[in-house]
Amino acid sequence: MADTPAIAARGVKVHFRTAAGLVRAVDGVDLTVPAGAFHGIVGESGCGKTTLARALIGLQPATSGEVRIVGRDRAEWQRSDRLGFARAVQFVFQDPLGSMSRRQTVGQTLEEPLLIHGSGNAVQRRARIAELLDLVALPASVLDRLPRSLSGGQRQRVAIARALALGPQLLIADEPLSALDVSVRAQIVNLFARLRDQLGLTIVIVAHDLAIVREVCSDVTVMYLGRVAEEGATKPLFADPAHPYSQALLSAVPSPDPRIEAVRPRVLLAGDPPSPRNPPPGCRFSTRCPVAEPACRTEEPALRAVIHGGRAACLLADAARHARIAHA
Ligand SMILES: Nc1ncnc2c1ncn2[C@@H]1O[C@H](COP(=O)(O)OP(=O)(O)O)[C@@H](O)[C@H]1O
Ligand SMILES: [Mg+2]
Repeated sequence: MADTPAIAARGVKVHFRTAAGLVRAVDGVDLTVPAGAFHGIVGESGCGKTTLARALIGLQPATSGEVRIVGRDRAEWQRSDRLGFARAVQFVFQDPLGSMSRRQTVGQTLEEPLLIHGSGNAVQRRARIAELLDLVALPASVLDRLPRSLSGGQRQRVAIARALALGPQLLIADEPLSALDVSVRAQIVNLFARLRDQLGLTIVIVAHDLAIVREVCSDVTVMYLGRVAEEGATKPLFADPAHPYSQALLSAVPSPDPRIEAVRPRVLLAGDPPSPRNPPPGCRFSTRCPVAEPACRTEEPALRAVIHGGRAACLLADAARHARIAHA
């Protein structure tokens, strides 16, 4: 069981039927997240990160595809044992305030999952709540407060504590920092890193802020227009991205290492991503790609192994990298 991935998703598609046509928000994603990993899903706004994250845990019905969570078919698990699934898998929403009842105190918010799952008597629940506050470094004095009277960072800690209440194996957080002031983001990043180490759970965060991902994530998936552009271990991928899209995305992120920062190539991304209503033929990135060749506009690239040890969906993957280095 130790080798069973926390998430194994194959061919996941989420298409939305709208008045203006079919939106291919997620369009054939394979994703493997090993147990105990801290995985980041990144990409520009609108590339399908939230839709994918929601589809992984059944918050969003998928058009097709299969998702296994810790070895079990997700759909079957939810049908046969909804509460068991909810104990094992938790989601932290982008807006912590929107996901809490405004009239419930922090104490009630944290007790709710314990009550729903019939976990312990009143004394045991109180002890568990104290433990949860401790885990997320909140003082007991917040218990009687209402969510709106808390700071953004405190609210996010409450949302995380509630997600941890039943001891999940997998926690997925959608843009957990985007509602926060820059000054408290680092604290929440550190909290996630500490929780991963302390509790040994698997964490997936969706983020458009690559600096966060670099700091805490062990592995990363880069999405572009509903598909995976590149994936791999964060460190080697960030040091040497193979896909021209990742190169462009990463070139906008300053490096903490002054030697790297001094020679960091800046690749500008022209324009906005095309609409997922009408993805371009061939490689979806070809319309914005600085190195695209004619074949890129007709042939859809599959993910293949690249030099950093991960995979990239680019016909020119390592060749494009060489071109970039030659021009730098
Ligand atoms: N319920 C919906 N109906 C129609 N289109 C949607 C719906 N939800 C998301 N989309 C579209 O799907 C695409 C991906 O959205 P989303 O998953 O929210 O991206 P991200 O989280 O990466 O910003 C966007 O073009 C968005 O407009
Ligand atoms: Mg989103």
